[in-house]
Amino acid sequence: MSQFLSNVFPDESSIPSTIKINQPIEQREYLVNGVTRIWDGALNPVLSPVFMKKGNGYEQKEIGSTPMLTSKEALEALEAATQAYDNGQGAWPTMNVAGRIEHVEKFLNLMKEKRTEVVNLLMWEIGKTQKDSEKEFDRTADYIVDTINGLKNLDRRSANFVQEQGILAQIRRVPLGVALCMGPFNYPLNETFSTLIPALIMGNTVVFKPAKFGVLLIRPLLEAFRASFPAGVINIIYGRGRETVGALLETGKLDVFAFIGTNKGANDLKKLHPKPHRLKAILGLDAKNPAIVLPDADLDNAVSECVMGTLSFNGQRCTALKILYVHKNIVDSFIEKYCEAVKKLKPGMPWDAGVSLTPLPEPGKVEYLISLVEDAKQHGAKVMNENGGDFLNSFFYPAVLYPVNSKMRIYSEEQFGPVVPIVPYDDIEEAIQYMVGSNFGQQVSIFGKDSKTVGRLIDEFSNQVGRINLNTQCQRGPDTFPFNGRKDSAEGTLSVADALRVFSIRTLVAAKTSGENKEIIGNILRNRESTFLSTDYIF
Ligand code: G3H
Repeated sequence: MSQFLSNVFPDESSIPSTIKINQPIEQREYLVNGVTRIWDGALNPVLSPVFMKKGNGYEQKEIGSTPMLTSKEALEALEAATQAYDNGQGAWPTMNVAGRIEHVEKFLNLMKEKRTEVVNLLMWEIGKTQKDSEKEFDRTADYIVDTINGLKNLDRRSANFVQEQGILAQIRRVPLGVALCMGPFNYPLNETFSTLIPALIMGNTVVFKPAKFGVLLIRPLLEAFRASFPAGVINIIYGRGRETVGALLETGKLDVFAFIGTNKGANDLKKLHPKPHRLKAILGLDAKNPAIVLPDADLDNAVSECVMGTLSFNGQRCTALKILYVHKNIVDSFIEKYCEAVKKLKPGMPWDAGVSLTPLPEPGKVEYLISLVEDAKQHGAKVMNENGGDFLNSFFYPAVLYPVNSKMRIYSEEQFGPVVPIVPYDDIEEAIQYMVGSNFGQQVSIFGKDSKTVGRLIDEFSNQVGRINLNTQCQRGPDTFPFNGRKDSAEGTLSVADALRVFSIRTLVAAKTSGENKEIIGNILRNRESTFLSTDYIF
């Protein structure tokens, strides 16, 4: 057992009373067709990554349970969403934009009341630090506000008519149909809502299944969803993915599949749809983003960005830096500074002040990371940092591996955790070829000053990844920027504005600019005889 980590897990009595979960939360509620149903079947236990000291041992904290629904309930949820959409004739898809915005605003206000509860559950369920959990909640609320404003802008532009080649037209965005939204465990609120809210606000109806961990934290929001949207517009289900979600895809009744997770999961699920051409997929998937540290890089900046990039939320971000290419001339000083900076990161529980490193929620994850480190050692790498790779229960202390080469699993596998591979390079072509040959293509970070080299690398990478970060770590934000990827990393582009587009399609009304047509259109507008054809301006 690790001596270094022997004090990392608390005993129950030391947990602040505001954070403590005194009784396990037994969730039986789920939402179908505007009704909060109570499930009387089997429950799925929710285990926190936090272990408690008990005498001489440890006990994993069980914080509650969620309904283990079956394909039957999942299909009932789909039926409710299908009816609410009603082939595009339902109240929600035909509601005007201002009306839909009011519903989303109501939801946002109710959601904000649940901040403390949701933040607390984020800490307990996925081990995210309090600061980052609060940031996730607030970022999500801001995302909703920005989405509302984005839609207002879009609608204002659509209020115009265009005239081209003697044809008069009004072009608007309308919904696609019934959407399935599934988010990841590392951002169970933010990433899930970054597809769910745009899907809803554009007039689609939704079946939403929370992530595999970070499930209970949706419970405080169930009532807000129920109270804010018409029956069937949003349905929330729980249970095993393959059984529930698999059944939904097999029906062929889904029009949109919004999924943030692994490319394997996305592939397996997409294939189940009997008419794949009718399924629009919006996917955020795996990544293995490299940082390339050039010989003239500002080392202090490169180190501090790479520490954040590799280890914030223990490296469990799709945008995390997952491999560091460092030039041979500076690699020794880089490693020294990097390891010093890692040493300053405080291990502890999510609610501890100033904590950065926390336990990992996925069962078997520590064993997986150990196997990556062992494999790298067998192929010649060393753990460079003090206590690197120490572990206790669900806690894994960062392991900095050097020198890493292509024979090691860590070179190509997405670790999604606190193992940091450092590859020394002589010729920049080695780093370029790594990206060209990679199955992933999300982002890259370049650290350096020489504009000629940086300019060349920008051109090399612009056809490989979706974002090139200069002297800064990889990241998704600001959420108004396009977020996407190539190859196995993504399908479609998300951002506040792009998400409104991907969950909708443009439809237009076009007429020859004849006197008669102008009169008909004028009458429709003056007498407000159409919701679609309208010049109303949303303030
Ligand atoms: O896990 C993937 C997230 O989209 C990353 O977002 O770069 O803001 O942490 P972030």
